[in-house]
Amino acid sequence: MQLMRCTMTQTTRTDLAVIVLAAGKGKRMRSDRPKVMHRLAGQTMLRHVLSTCETLSPDRIVVVAGPGMPEVEAEASPHVVVIQPSQAGTGDAVRVALPAVGEVRDVLVVYGDTPLIRRETLGRMVAERRETGAAAVVLGMNVAPPNDYGRLMLDRDGGLAAIVEAREATPEQLANPLCNSGVMAISGGVATDLVRRLTPSAGNGEYYLTDIVALAREDGLGARVIEASAEELAGVNSRADLAAAEAILQGRLREAAMAGGATLVDPPSVFLAADTRLGRDVVVGPHVVFGPGVIVEDGAEIKAFCHLEGAVVRAGAIIGPFARLRPGAEIGEAAHVGNFVELKNAKLGRAAKVNHLTYLGDTEVGARTNVGAGTITCNYDGFAKFRTVIGADVFIGSNAALVAPVTVGEGAMIAAGSVITRDVPPDATSIARGVQVDKPGHAARFRAARRREGQRKEGL
Ligand code: UD1
Ligand code: MG
Repeated sequence: MQLMRCTMTQTTRTDLAVIVLAAGKGKRMRSDRPKVMHRLAGQTMLRHVLSTCETLSPDRIVVVAGPGMPEVEAEASPHVVVIQPSQAGTGDAVRVALPAVGEVRDVLVVYGDTPLIRRETLGRMVAERRETGAAAVVLGMNVAPPNDYGRLMLDRDGGLAAIVEAREATPEQLANPLCNSGVMAISGGVATDLVRRLTPSAGNGEYYLTDIVALAREDGLGARVIEASAEELAGVNSRADLAAAEAILQGRLREAAMAGGATLVDPPSVFLAADTRLGRDVVVGPHVVFGPGVIVEDGAEIKAFCHLEGAVVRAGAIIGPFARLRPGAEIGEAAHVGNFVELKNAKLGRAAKVNHLTYLGDTEVGARTNVGAGTITCNYDGFAKFRTVIGADVFIGSNAALVAPVTVGEGAMIAAGSVITRDVPPDATSIARGVQVDKPGHAARFRAARRREGQRKEGL
């Protein structure tokens, strides 16, 4: 792509603007949420599209939202949002957006509900538009069966003659499998004029952006098509489409994770978020789910059946099987988190061990400390959360309850079964449980008495 230097501001101008169409409610989703706010791999569809477009460094991105969609406006930030008052069609949406676009060489129109589109494809479109000088370049795909997509009608030279919406197409036109994905690169010089000349369609009275192709041809200007795979251009209109897009995206994320040097023992059973970061030589076992915001550093291992979200796992740590790391969990280098352990807003020091059946919330654990099976931090009194601070080299016996706020000093020991309600000094041993009572011979006498009772009943 051609880049221009802007000497005044020292920033690089790409002379490109992107319009993201996102005003549709998406009736077929049967949802209270705008369609583009539905999530794939932990991120909204709108965010996926914006992230892809941002990599082109356009001078401006303008998002077209419908009225009463504050969540779309927030998600679009820091980009410009314009409101399309009524959904009068894709042509109307672009008309509403163009005044916010400013003067640019190219206007790229993408859809908020086509989240899998790749940067390379968008780059190819702009390059084709600039190289050929066409008024518009449309992104086509071969779809079988083509259903209700608009059909791209080519002329003899391979140029684009017109786009015909399925509802207005003749049977011959419908037989054409080359479909309109909706993505279009338009010459900035003619976009405003072409869109202004659109008239309501005969089919449903909407202003079709696709009609600018025929208008450009009337003016003697060219229009072109480039193609990408139907998989990449899949639009999401229903929950089933959303699930299909998720599957495609998961495939891409798994491939990228493996290409980056992580081992996925059973890739189809690992679910990644768009922002999951796995280091070199990370090993992920089967059936692991990564929610948003997880970083796993080099050489760490996530064993089978773990669920992680908003967590950092430092180099060489071992998690699971069956562990749950919730937001704010930070596992130190070479630390171990074992089965049925849940951590929330909890930091484990280097080589600390929390191996069985434990809940640590709002907690800090020092280096090399061993947290015994069944330990619970009681961090919540029904109203507020409180912190537990455990020093380095502490040994906490099984089934301890640490009632926060509480501090356990460095090198201390906590006896099994203790309920700790006061701070424990460094190097102290704290025992906080009922005192054991032994009754010599009692068990044997008890059994003998029960047996005699049973014999008496049988004799009756
Ligand atoms: C559109 C294309 C069709 C193409 C198909 C690909 C037109 C006329 N038709 O049809 O050729 O095959 O996409 O999916 O362009 N939107 C607005 N404001 C509006 C109307 C739509 O922002 O007033 C947004 C929607 O939120 C959506 C996108 O534009 O993101 C496409 O709109 P949609 O109604 O789904 O168009 P299709 O009828 O599918
Ligand atoms: Mg559609």
